[in-house]
Order: sequence, then structure tokens, then C-alpha cells
Amino acid sequence: MVDYEVTVHTGSLAYAGTENSIFITLLGQDGESKSTRLLNFKGLFAFVKESVSTFTVSCPVSIGELILIKLEKTYLFLEDDWFPAKVEVKSPEGHTYNFPIYRWITDSKVHCFREGTALRDFEDHSCAIQFRKQELEQQDKEYRWHVYARGIPDCMEAMCYSDLPPDVRFSFTKDIEFVYTLGTGLIHLKLDGLANSREKWPDIAAISVAMQGRSTHISDYVQQHWRDDDFFGYQYLNGVNPMLIKRCSALPDNFPVTDEMVFPGDQFSLADEMKKGNIFLCDYKPLDGVKANIIDEKQQYLMAPLVLLHKTPEDKLKPIAIQLKQTPAEDNPIFLPTDPEYDWLTAKIFVRSADFNEHQANSHLLRTHLLAEVFAVSLLRNLPMVHPLYKLLIPHTHDTLEINYMARHHLISDNGVFTKFAATGGEGLVTLLQRSLSSVTYTSLCIPEDIAERGLKDVPNFYYRDDGLKLWDIIYRFVQGVLGFYYKNDDEVQKDSELQKWISDIFEHGFLSKASSGIPQRFTKVEELVKFVTMVIFTCSAQHSAVNTGQYDYGGWMPNAPTTLYCPPPTKKGTTSQATMMDTLPDKGTTANGMSTLWLLSKPSSDDVPLGQYPGDHFSEKMPCELIKAFQGELQVLSARIKIRNLSLEVPYTYMDPEKIENSVTI
Ligand code: FE2
Repeated sequence: MVDYEVTVHTGSLAYAGTENSIFITLLGQDGESKSTRLLNFKGLFAFVKESVSTFTVSCPVSIGELILIKLEKTYLFLEDDWFPAKVEVKSPEGHTYNFPIYRWITDSKVHCFREGTALRDFEDHSCAIQFRKQELEQQDKEYRWHVYARGIPDCMEAMCYSDLPPDVRFSFTKDIEFVYTLGTGLIHLKLDGLANSREKWPDIAAISVAMQGRSTHISDYVQQHWRDDDFFGYQYLNGVNPMLIKRCSALPDNFPVTDEMVFPGDQFSLADEMKKGNIFLCDYKPLDGVKANIIDEKQQYLMAPLVLLHKTPEDKLKPIAIQLKQTPAEDNPIFLPTDPEYDWLTAKIFVRSADFNEHQANSHLLRTHLLAEVFAVSLLRNLPMVHPLYKLLIPHTHDTLEINYMARHHLISDNGVFTKFAATGGEGLVTLLQRSLSSVTYTSLCIPEDIAERGLKDVPNFYYRDDGLKLWDIIYRFVQGVLGFYYKNDDEVQKDSELQKWISDIFEHGFLSKASSGIPQRFTKVEELVKFVTMVIFTCSAQHSAVNTGQYDYGGWMPNAPTTLYCPPPTKKGTTSQATMMDTLPDKGTTANGMSTLWLLSKPSSDDVPLGQYPGDHFSEKMPCELIKAFQGELQVLSARIKIRNLSLEVPYTYMDPEKIENSVTI
């Protein structure tokens, strides 16, 4: 007889342990062990949470190189779910095999787990091919595509919470915490008394009183500076929506701004300033004609503004003209900083409200949450656990399917907060998502190309770009190292049928087979694969952080980001006042609900995993493990540099500090 030493690590999630009986079968190149019950002196405590327990499995002779293990959980009275993290097996020859699992076992079926060495289908052991197929057939049943609405990316089919496979549900702790915070965000902010109020705010000072004790360092700054033109411009670079601004080399035909309007003292000319690259444009065209919400039977107002900005010799970015509707007309004036105070401020408020809605639908929901879900569902359906890309990407899908399920059921559902309190809630949101998807291109998802295309390479004080480009490079080098280790040439990429299915599903279900998006339909070269996977990790981590983490900082002070507006915009100059502005701003209930939602969405979760930290040992080979360490080292250096840079900034930019970025879209 020969003995195999089997060490079982049970995970650290809440309720990871089990009291059920566990059986294991070892399968090697030369044979198979008997199904053996794992019993040792610990008895029922062998598989408690975070336990490490060792057992012996005996075979008549060596079964050769180990390929997989089969685990079976049985019970007499009560089924008790189990979350094994990994199993290590020491063979009689002295070799240690690692079997990463990190999955729930919730039934009494036999579950197979492959040895940790990554393998593509064309190089897999012949005896393992059938298990590889079975695993994908099972995944195919569990993770099904679903059309949420025509013209937007498909999502995962889950009509109710129990449809979510256990592996993609939040840990128990977070589950409770999320429900708790959803229900009590208002209470936490002590705004529950206002939640149902339809009363208008009498003045800005009253909003300040409501904000007391509910601010962050940055929301305080926003409260003090929300009226300032240079802060209005600054937010296009380093606020929560740095995705819209573009350098402007020719005015759009529908935005007839003249030199007299914007440079009345003749100090500059638009043509010269455009030539020098000092003029920028923010065009909210996708909002044009989007049906604004009706809240409590009251029509809401949403504009599709055009904003022209000037980079001053002092390197400030200042708005110089705002047209609130797309079609120039007498009743659609071009507002200017020289206009009466409340005309200009009201125009800026309409822009900020448009920006809130554009940011939530396009920059945040579509370009990070919904795309991250597409990447994850395609991964789970098409790549077996033993595939190197599964190992690389699975940590970057953590909690994403569940948070998107929650968003669909609690934020944008008929009774959701977004539907009840945002101008684009309800039908408008779907229209906006459809239009936004039609403008998503592959290059716009890759920050180096996106920045170049928007003409923003040399704009001063642009920390989203500075930190984002560095992060992109660090992620790119890591991905290049890992994938380059497995894919030695383009031929290996082309013949990896599982990999090709992964990208073709993304093209079909995420980008609705639109070739003009530029999204690859298949990979032919290693470098194409490396770039795409870099984009996936960047989108799920850094980009989501950039558009998510600052939501309360920049939106907690409601006048800076009204979720909706209650009056139409002025059609004539000189008709606004403090009173009309207060009538236009959301009421107390909408403000309170908006604040509590943004607070919840900006709050780091208790089980967050920072970018580059991989608590699961999915890789067994030395090279990817060393590359992970190097990746972590580079992220640490960048984090330290960002912290030093931030010391000298009036408003620190922290959203792309690797320490603050999560591995995946989790909130
Ligand atoms: Fe988010």
C-alpha cells in the first residue's frame, strides 16, 4: 500500500465550515483511489471555518501524476454547505499537488476539481477532457444569458435571489450588511425624517444645516466651492465623471458661440485659443429627447447641454458658455459667466444634473457594472477552472453578479431609488443606456487611447489621467507576464477554442455583435489578448473606482449634483432668482434619498480586496506567483507616490490610489 497525505483547507467566509461527511477520490495518470471518507482525530471539527486538516488516503500502488480530485459531501440528518478553499495532496513520491477550489459545495453530488497547473484544452490530459467538458456543461446551465432590455448588454439570468448560484452571492456578512445599509442608510445619515418629505428647501442655508455631520473632507470642499467656475471645470477632470470632456478644435454647428460672448474684452479669440488647444467641450447630446421622469405625478426636467470651457493662462479650466438644449433658438439662450448671477448659476445646475444622470447611466452603470458582468458571465460559461485566464480573471469578478442583481432589483427597478428620484429613472434610463452603448468603442475603454482621442494628453492637473495611465501600464505588464508565460506564440491563442468562445460571447452579448465598436470578435495574436485582458481588469478595478468611489464626495452636497430638477430651464435671460433656483432644486425627500444612496454606493465594504491582492491561490506555477508579487510591489510604489502628490493638492485625488481600488466591481 502507498499513502497520500491529503490536507484540506476550509475557507474563511462566514458559514464556510461543515459538519457533513466528506469523501475524496484521487485521480492520477495511472489510476484512481477508492472514494475515501476524510476522517481524523478532529472528528466533526475537521472542516470548520478556516481549518486545516490532514488525512491519509491509501492506494494499493501509486496512481501516478495527479490530475484531479473528486469531493463528495454526504449527510445523515441536515445538509450543511461547505466552502473548501483548497486541497493539497502529498504523493508517496514526495510531490505536492495543489487543488484550488474556492467554491461552495451545497449538495451531495460528486464535484471534480483540477490540479492547479493551468492547462488549455489543446494540451490537457486525455483522461481529463471529459471532466473539462462536464464542468463547462454545468456552468452553462448555471450561468445563462438574459436580455434585460433590447439594445443594452445582456446580463445573467436571475429572476429572484435564489437563482443566483451560491458562488456568486455575497459572503453572509456582506449580504446582511448590504440589506442593512439599504434599509438604514437614511437612518445612518439621520435623514430618515426627511425621506418622505415633499417640502422644498427654503434656501441653500437650510441644505447646509441638513448636511452638518454628514460630510466628508471633499464634500465639505464641494459645499464651499460648488458655485465657483474653476471648480465646475475641475470636476470634468477629477470629479466622478472624467469621461466626457474633449478638446475642441471647431465649434459644433449647433453651438453658435462668438468671441463677443466669451471674450468681451478682446483679450483672447476663440479661433486662436482653439488652435492653441485651450478650448474644451462637454456635449450631453445623448440626453437629447430622453423622456424625463415623472415623480409623484410631477414632470421632471432634464437638459442635454453643451458646455464650452477655456483653459486660462493660470491653468484653470473655466466654463465660458452653456447652452442647455441642443438646438439653438431664441428661447434657448447661451448662458455666460457675465450674465446675472442666478442665470449663470441655474445654467450650471442644469449641467450638473445632466452630468449626474449621464454619469450614472453611462460612465458608471454601463461602462463599468454592465460590462464587468458581461466579462464575468462569459468567463464562467466558457472557461474551466483549470484555464489560465480563469485563474487570472476570477478574482476580478468577485461580487459583481450579485451587486448587479441588487442594482436591477433595488436601484433601477420600478420601485428602485433611481427610478423614484432621478430624472432618467424608468423609461429614460433604458433609452440612455441604449444610446450610450452605441457610442462605446473599444478604444474608449482603453485609457491610453481614450485620453489621446479626447485630446487630453497635456491638460494640466488631470490626476484621473496621470494615475490611470500609470495603472494601465502596471496592469498591462502584469497581464503580459502572466499570459506571455502560457501563450508562447500567436498560434496557441488561435487554437484555444475556449478562449475564442470567451471573446466571441463578449462581442455578441456585451456589444450586441456591433463590429463598429472595434471590440475583437476573436483573438489572433498574443498582444491582442494581453490588451483586451488589461482593459477587462482596468475596467473592473481602476475605472470603476474612478467613477464610483467619489459619488458621495461630489454628490453628497445636493446642489452640486441634483438627481433631478423640478422646473424647466429659463428661456430668457434675467428671469431667475434665488427663489426660482430653490424651486428648481429637488425637494427634501429626494435630497435625502439621493444622499443616502450615494453614501451607500461610496462606502467601502468590509470584505473588500484591494487591486492586486489575490487571497485565493489559483495559480500553482512559480512564474505567475512571482509576477503577482511584482505586480503588488509596483502598485505599492504607485500608491505611495499618489499619497505624496496628494499632500500638495487642495483637493486630493484618491480614487485611483491602488490601495483604495477594489479588484472587482462590488458596489
Ligand atoms: Fe459601482
